[in-house]
Parts: sequence; structure tokens; C-alpha cells
Amino acid sequence: MTKPAIEVQPLVRQKAHSLGSTGEKWLGELPGLIGDLEREWSIAVGPPLPGGTSSYVARVRTVDGRDGVLKLSLPATDFAHQVRTLGLAEGHGYAHLLAYDLERHALLQEALGPSMDRLGLPPTRQIETLCAMLEQAWRVPRAAGQAVDPAREKALALGEMVERLWESLGRPCSEQVVAQALTFAGRRAAAFDPALCVVVHGDPHPGNALRAVTPRVGAEAGFVFVDPDGFLSDPAYDLGVVLRDWCAELMGRGSSGDAAVALARSYCALLADRSGMDEQAIWEWGFLERVSTGLYVLEFGAEEFGRPFLDTAELLA
Ligand SMILES: Nc1ncnc2c1ncn2[C@@H]1O[C@H](COP(=O)(O)OP(=O)(O)O)[C@@H](O)[C@H]1O
Ligand SMILES: [Mg+2]
Repeated sequence: MTKPAIEVQPLVRQKAHSLGSTGEKWLGELPGLIGDLEREWSIAVGPPLPGGTSSYVARVRTVDGRDGVLKLSLPATDFAHQVRTLGLAEGHGYAHLLAYDLERHALLQEALGPSMDRLGLPPTRQIETLCAMLEQAWRVPRAAGQAVDPAREKALALGEMVERLWESLGRPCSEQVVAQALTFAGRRAAAFDPALCVVVHGDPHPGNALRAVTPRVGAEAGFVFVDPDGFLSDPAYDLGVVLRDWCAELMGRGSSGDAAVALARSYCALLADRSGMDEQAIWEWGFLERVSTGLYVLEFGAEEFGRPFLDTAELLA
């Protein structure tokens, strides 16, 4: 392979800058790190892949001529959990993990095809496939000693983040949206039951669902996940993340909230039907995710990417 330039995508660069000196250091050391890993893992690093927000991802070729993908994550991400989840999954519902280095936030994984969001599939087809993938992904065993502290479960954490960011960002959405998100956070927190928790993906959006290049055991849905957070939570949380997207479709229904609500409700009903999970729980997680993601993305300065989440939340509140 000829040596391609190390091009960091704008969104990743923006996130790196938002981390201050840690992020700047990571950007500065990236070329050296790639060179070191090429030697240590006997790989030739090829062109970068687009689509991520917190990492440099590139195709690689191993010395024995096999394809792989190298991922170098920003230091702020929960990298150890990602590696742990991919390792325990052993390719079931997830990409195969080939090598990793926890200290340098580097991993090598099986080469996969394009992400689901690039294939022009109808949203309902994507939602059905994501449900099938999640059913398999939720079977990943807990790591030894993995537990969830009720005081730090996801609904509480998201509610606190929404409150904090709404103020610190100068109230970038309506009070009604924030109040709704906080009510739903409270309800999901009250419903928290450690006995029902599974190892969730944590961010199972179509950009993290990649087509398997060839049929294989563990990829029966035709796609597998990359980029897991791998914490313990209500599985309906993952379904809420799936519901969180579709901003273009929801806004394509015009400025009427009724039409957007009807469409989002139909996606939510499909998620409940395919998973057997409670529809209202999925709706509540979905709304909370929409608002918290919008605020989180605005915080690292990607206004264009974050705004649609808040605008659709206004339609659905
Ligand atoms: N194993 C892989 N095979 C092919 N493409 C991949 C692979 N892993 C990641 N990618 C591509 O890189 C993008 C970003 O990867 P991801 O792990 O989701 O990073 P981030 O943590 O930055 O979101 C994915 O959306 C996908 O397009
Ligand atoms: Mg990703």
C-alpha cells in the first residue's frame, strides 16, 4: 500500500480540540503512534475510514495479506469497556477483536463492510435489523465482577447531564423539552432493576452497525456492531438509542409536531414489537437520548450535527 496521509475527520478533530491539551497531544502523536503500531503488529496502515466521532479509523493489511481495521480512540473514551465487550462477544453480534493496547487506546479488528446508514435502506428495515442484532448482542456475558451502582445508572447520569449542559450552554432548547427529558429520566431511574440489566451496546445507531463482508457465525443478521460502550443497563435503553435517530425523516414531515409524533411512535411500536420490550420505556429512553445527545454534541462544538436532535425533541415534546 502507498502511504496515505493521516487525515483526521473534522468532527474528530473538533472533539480532540474540545478536550484541550489532552486532545492536542493525541493529534500530535497520532502519526508516531501509527508508525509504532505498524511495526509492533506487523501491519501496513492504509486509508482512513469516515463515520466516527472519537477516533482515527483506517484499513490495514497484515503481513500475511489479510485485511483488518485499526482504531485509535481519543483518550476521553471508555476504551477498556469497548475492548472488554468485543473480547467477551467473540464475534457474536460484534466485530472480531484481533489485537489491542489499552494504554494507547488502540485496537485491531476484523475488516467489515459499509455501515448501515450508507446503504439507503428504509428506516423500518434498519430498525428491524438493529433489533435482530441487539438480541444477539445482549447475550454477551458480564465480565467477572461487572456490576452496576444504582447511584450511577444511565437514567440518573443522563438526567444530570441534561440539567448541567442546558444551563452551561445557555439554554439551547425550550424549558418544556428539558422538563420532559428530566421527567423521563426520573421514571426510568425509578424503574431501574439490576436483575433486568444486560451488557448493552450503549450506542447502537446505524453508523455503528457494519455489514459483514462474508456470511459467518455470529453475523446472522448480515451486520455486526462496532464501538460498544458495554455497560450494564436496561436493554430498552439500547432501543431508545435506535429511536433517537431519524431526525431527517422526522423533520421531513414539516413543522407539525403531530406528524413527527406519529412517525416516531410508529418506529417505537416497531421496536417494541420486534424486541418484546415495553413501548413506553423505549419512548422515554428515546426522548432522553435525543435531548442528551443534542446537548452533548453541542458541547463539543458540532452545532450542525447536534441541532437536529434538539429540533426534533421540540417537535416530539
Ligand atoms: N471493523 C471495521 N470495518 C470497516 N469499517 C469500520 C470498522 N470499524 C469502524 N469502521 C468505520 O469507521 C467508523 C468509525 O468507527 P467507530 O468504531 O464507530 O468509531 P467512533 O468511536 O469514532 O464512533 C464506522 O462508522 C465505520 O464506518
Ligand atoms: Mg461509532
